Amino acid sequence: MKLIKLCTNCLILTLLWTSFTSPSPIPSPTPWPEQFHALLYMNLSSTRLQLSDLWYDWPKGRNVNIFQRQLSDVLYDIEWNNGTTFYYTLGPNGTCRVEDFEVGIPRPDFMVDGSVYLGTQVTDGILCNVWEKIDFIWYYEDVLSNIPVRMDFYDGISIHVMTFEVGAVLPDSSVTQAPVYCFNQGLQASPL
Ligand SMILES: *[C@@H]1O[C@H](CO)[C@@H](O)[C@H](O)[C@H]1NC(C)=O
Ligand SMILES: *[C@@H]1O[C@H](CO)[C@@H](O)[C@H](O)[C@H]1NC(C)=O
Ligand SMILES: *[C@@H]1O[C@H](CO)[C@@H](O)[C@H](O)[C@H]1NC(C)=O
Repeated sequence: MKLIKLCTNCLILTLLWTSFTSPSPIPSPTPWPEQFHALLYMNLSSTRLQLSDLWYDWPKGRNVNIFQRQLSDVLYDIEWNNGTTFYYTLGPNGTCRVEDFEVGIPRPDFMVDGSVYLGTQVTDGILCNVWEKIDFIWYYEDVLSNIPVRMDFYDGISIHVMTFEVGAVLPDSSVTQAPVYCFNQGLQASPL
């Protein structure tokens, strides 16, 4: 009995020791800052490209994407943490679509749980750690700066991060307020 007890202690000590001294733990994705502004280059794979002006704001529960579609119009995509997303265009022929998703905006640590480390890879000329999560997203993060570099999605969409400004906040303004025609859908709802 005593011996078994002793060896259980030995085992625990050994486990503790190895966990403190093991040379290179598997890297974990860095959580996003709670607020940031990024410019994104997006390849929608179906031969379409767009730029996105992204304002992520976890404390406000808001994720704003302003898409400049190539040689086309600007699409506003305002996502709220309660699951409501407004997609709209502005101008005399502006349209709006409102969708309710069961989940809200991504948590800052959405990549941390359940992601599988795939090793390092050079992408866009930058050495990155790469993770994959539930066959949905492939996530590339700069090994040196821990800034996200690239995200690929299961449906072929590929996003490349061009600028990443930690702590930048989009002021509440006409941009974040969906236009009136989002709220009287019967009158001017047309698909975007
Ligand atoms: C966009 O993605 C498609 C599909 O992966 C690829 O064939 C195409 O070359 C890409 N275009 C650009 C401009 O990166
Ligand atoms: C979610 O929040 C936005 C912004 O406050 C609001 O416009 C929208 O109506 C809300 N949606 C629901 C389902 O409460
Ligand atoms: C708005 O739609 C009308 C009617 O289809 C069209 O004549 C006009 O050129 C459009 N205006 C803009 C700015 O797209």
